[in-house]
Amino acid sequence: MEKLSKTSLNYYLSEYLEDLKRAGVKDFRRTPLRFAAPPSPTDVERPAASAESPKSASGKPSESGATQSRKPAPSASDDERERALAQIAAQVACCSLCPELVANRTQTVFGTGNPYAELCFIGEGPGAEEDARGVPFVGRSGQLLTDMIEKGMKIKRADVFICNVVRCRPPQNRNPERSEADACRPFLDATLDVVRPKYICCLGSIAATNLLRVDAPIGKLRGIVHDYKGSKVVCTYHPAYLLRNPAAKKQAWEDLQLLMREMGLFK
Ligand code: URA
Repeated sequence: MEKLSKTSLNYYLSEYLEDLKRAGVKDFRRTPLRFAAPPSPTDVERPAASAESPKSASGKPSESGATQSRKPAPSASDDERERALAQIAAQVACCSLCPELVANRTQTVFGTGNPYAELCFIGEGPGAEEDARGVPFVGRSGQLLTDMIEKGMKIKRADVFICNVVRCRPPQNRNPERSEADACRPFLDATLDVVRPKYICCLGSIAATNLLRVDAPIGKLRGIVHDYKGSKVVCTYHPAYLLRNPAAKKQAWEDLQLLMREMGLFK
């Protein structure tokens, strides 16, 4: 029998749960999904109203834009948020919009982390290791990103959400083409609409310019708090760049401190 990928399995599980619900079954155990780290008690208790009108962790109202609002997720309960992400992941797994990427990928790389995360990191696209394992940022850049999150920001990696501009590995780790980023954009927006992070950190210029739809070098985009549909966005260097240019780690740390100040984690 053909072995199911984890993504397909998630899809079938979510369909199965729907069938059970349609059949009137109300009480069944939650099925943990690959990308869904268990929400922390704070996340579960966070009232829907505070998720809709974000305040910074310091209690200050966000200046960033209740007005530009992201499409509100329909009263997302615990299961609904996880199921919504599983459905996007299933669509991603079937996507064939970018012929060169489809021909070269081992599998799609959807995203990983907590569906209730306040902070989302966006990278460029999967590399060889990510393509092999189906999880973003698990290679050398991923180890550095994990250190930035856990040793620098003192947050658990499992408490944030991590995804990429494109969900298939560009061959030879080339930059994703603009057309590929555009084709994958609905998946990125749909993911952000479900997770609704208060804060986004763009890793490198591909992530920053694609998310914010600006044409500027990363050096000009860092040091500023941008807005994307009500999420505060900080841009910094990509971990792969930092591995090649360790001197830039000082500036990356300044960027993380800016982000932490916005989050009320750093004075
Ligand atoms: N680089 C990225 O931009 N994303 C990954 O997932 C891994 C490396």
